[in-house]
Amino acid sequence: MIRRVITTGTRVEADGDGRLIAAPAARNLGPILDVLLPRLPRRGDVLELASGTGQHIAALAAHRPDLSFHPTDPDPTRRASIDAHCRGLPNVMPAGDIDAGQAGWAVEAGADAVLVVNLLHLISDGELAILLDEAHRAMSPGGLLAIYGPFRRDGILSSPGDRAFDADLRAQDEAIGLKDAAMIETVLTVLGCAVEMVEMPANNLMILAQKDAGSAL
Ligand SMILES: C[S@@+](CC[C@H](N)C(=O)[O-])C[C@H]1O[C@@H](n2cnc3c(N)ncnc32)[C@H](O)[C@@H]1O
Repeated sequence: MIRRVITTGTRVEADGDGRLIAAPAARNLGPILDVLLPRLPRRGDVLELASGTGQHIAALAAHRPDLSFHPTDPDPTRRASIDAHCRGLPNVMPAGDIDAGQAGWAVEAGADAVLVVNLLHLISDGELAILLDEAHRAMSPGGLLAIYGPFRRDGILSSPGDRAFDADLRAQDEAIGLKDAAMIETVLTVLGCAVEMVEMPANNLMILAQKDAGSAL
């Protein structure tokens, strides 16, 4: 389910050719590239859920022409923006339509890495459980799941900004809001992944899970 949530600082600007530009995506691009580029697989397919404007996947694909990138988003305006940002990048497929919280998408979406940036606070707990299960199914053995965003830490909203953001989200839809990083780590560990947490700027986290790796990450 796509929820129409308005949050301060997340407005997107339209460019002439269908490209949308989100200032937060531009701000967090550098730190996200720094963490992901050394960890992406050496070859294969990278699936992104909730690609949004397409700014992140376009930059990743430009840096890694040896990988095949598969952006997705359930919103057709975002898909047009993704395709516009990625025009001229032969290693990026046309944006696909995946609702990450609906069971069944993994069947047709095999990948060596799955990326999820700034989505989990926009979905319900039930949709999160489906997303994690589907992402795990979609990944090849040894595959990488990378999840970026703001999170609760051991159930706690750990900064004034996170508390305000979570309250803003819940005021619009009580089913959504910041998820707990420790809970996600537990689910992924039970699924057999090795999990690493990387602290990111502005109290964000990158949760990295390697499938079938036990504690080897
Ligand atoms: C905050 S934006 C993040 C976009 C991009 N990843 C970024 O960081 O710039 C959230 C995106 O999630 C998409 N979205 C909302 N609900 C979704 C769902 N259930 N499954 C997949 N994507 C969803 C929206 O269409 C939107 O593009």
